[in-house]
Amino acid sequence: MKLLYEGKAKRVYEGSEPGRVRMEFKDSATAFNGQKRAEIAGKGVVNAAVTARIFQWLGGQGIETHFLEQIDDRTLDVERLTMIGLEVVVRNWVAGSLAQRTGLPEGTPIEVPVVEFYYKNDALGDPLLNDDHIRLLGVASPDLVARLRQQALRVNQLLVPFFRQRRLILVDFKLEFGWSPSGALKLGDEISPDTCRLWDEATRERLDKDRFRRDLGGVEEAYQEIYRRVMA
Ligand code: TMP
Repeated sequence: MKLLYEGKAKRVYEGSEPGRVRMEFKDSATAFNGQKRAEIAGKGVVNAAVTARIFQWLGGQGIETHFLEQIDDRTLDVERLTMIGLEVVVRNWVAGSLAQRTGLPEGTPIEVPVVEFYYKNDALGDPLLNDDHIRLLGVASPDLVARLRQQALRVNQLLVPFFRQRRLILVDFKLEFGWSPSGALKLGDEISPDTCRLWDEATRERLDKDRFRRDLGGVEEAYQEIYRRVMA
């Protein structure tokens, strides 16, 4: 199959018919804009399964996504979208770069979820953009920014209880959106322990990619634990 694109965690191939692409989830992990690298055994299988499960479930809740079907344990077929050049982050608890930017301690609850937009640009290290920066760059219109924000908050309202039922706190997560050929705005990319912070409700143990980013150990075990709880 023709390789269309190779990213840090996935390969994207031309699909079996026009309008379809195949995403293969790799075990490779990077952090800090590719400066830190490792292989996490089983990560690709976990992220493919978790993404398939969550996208299928979100679809049933009325969220339009690119997901079509799971092909094998690390491969999903998805609709080909024209991606919007923004990462949309939603935060329910202070962590990561928000803790660094504000000085608020990690684990501070956030009453009204915080939505942030990052510019998808590896050369710049995916910088945070405000609405005026987005307008200046022409990466999305103000109307589209409003739609992305509203859609990300809808996904958050669905995912918080989804993970709570699995005794997990959804601390924050990143979404990417794109346009389908029919002109619909759809959720793309993945939702996995690579793109979410997930803490055990009782112990606050980190069960996501922060175990790798921060050298906390037990990386493979954390991905397997998320697999067990999400697929249960
Ligand atoms: P941050 O606190 O580092 O800004 O991350 C916020 C959320 O976004 C966190 O759940 C991890 C996710 N994320 C990605 O999916 N990809 C990235 O490149 C980065 C930096 C964060």
